[in-house]
Amino acid sequence: MRILGLCGSLRAGSLNAAVLRSAAELVVPPRELLVDPGLGRLPFFDADVETTALPRVVAELRGAVGAADGLLIATPEYAHGTSGVLKNALEWLVGGGEMDGKPVALASASPAATGGDRARAWLAETLAVMGAKVIPRELGIPRATLMISDGRITDEPTRTALARLLDDLADAAAEARAAAAVEVREVSGSLAS
Ligand SMILES: Cc1cc2nc3c(=O)[nH]c(=O)nc-3n(C[C@H](O)[C@H](O)[C@H](O)COP(=O)(O)O)c2cc1C
Repeated sequence: MRILGLCGSLRAGSLNAAVLRSAAELVVPPRELLVDPGLGRLPFFDADVETTALPRVVAELRGAVGAADGLLIATPEYAHGTSGVLKNALEWLVGGGEMDGKPVALASASPAATGGDRARAWLAETLAVMGAKVIPRELGIPRATLMISDGRITDEPTRTALARLLDDLADAAAEARAAAAVEVREVSGSLAS
C-alpha cells in the first residue's frame, strides 16, 4: 500500500510539511508513505508545453501519482484558498488522468482558529472535478503553531486524528484496488468468451 504525500507549502519551516513528516512516521508497514520532493520544482502549467514537450519533472510527478494507491495532501490556506504551488501541480495532473478515481485524504494546518478549512473546501471541489475520490474524513489543525514543534506534530490528540485519517485513506485505497481487480476480471472474462 503506497501513499504519496503532497505538500502545498515550500517553506522550510512549513506546518503542513510537518503534518506529512508525522504521517510518514505513523504509517506502519506494509503501508508506506513517500513525500514528494517538492512541488516547487514544477514549471508553471502551460498547455502548449504540455502538448509539445512535457517536462521530465511533470512526467515524474504523474508517474508517482499513478503508482500511488492514495494521496495525502497537506495544504496551507492562502487568501482563503489553497496555494498556487498546489493548484499548479493539480493543473499538470488534469491532463495525465492519474487522479481519476484516486483516493485522496486532505489535511491543513494553520495558525488561525479555522485551521485551513476554506483551503480544504476549495481543494475538495477542484479534486472532485478531476475525478479524485476525496475521503469524507479530513484533518484541519487550528492554532497549529501550538500543535507542531520542531517539524512534527507534538499534540497527541492531533497525532491520533492523523492516524485515523491515514486508516481511512488506506481503507479507501484497498476498496479502490479491489474494485479495479473486479473490473480487470470482468474485462478479461468478456474477452475470453
Ligand atoms: C499570503 C498569505 C496568505 C494567508 N492567508 C491565510 C488565510 O486565508 N487563512 C489562514 O488561515 N491563514 C492564512 N495565512 C497564514 C498561513 O496559514 C500560515 O502562514 C501557514 O503557516 C502557512 O502554511 P505552512 O506553515 O505550511 O507554510 C496566510 C499566509 C500568507 C503568507
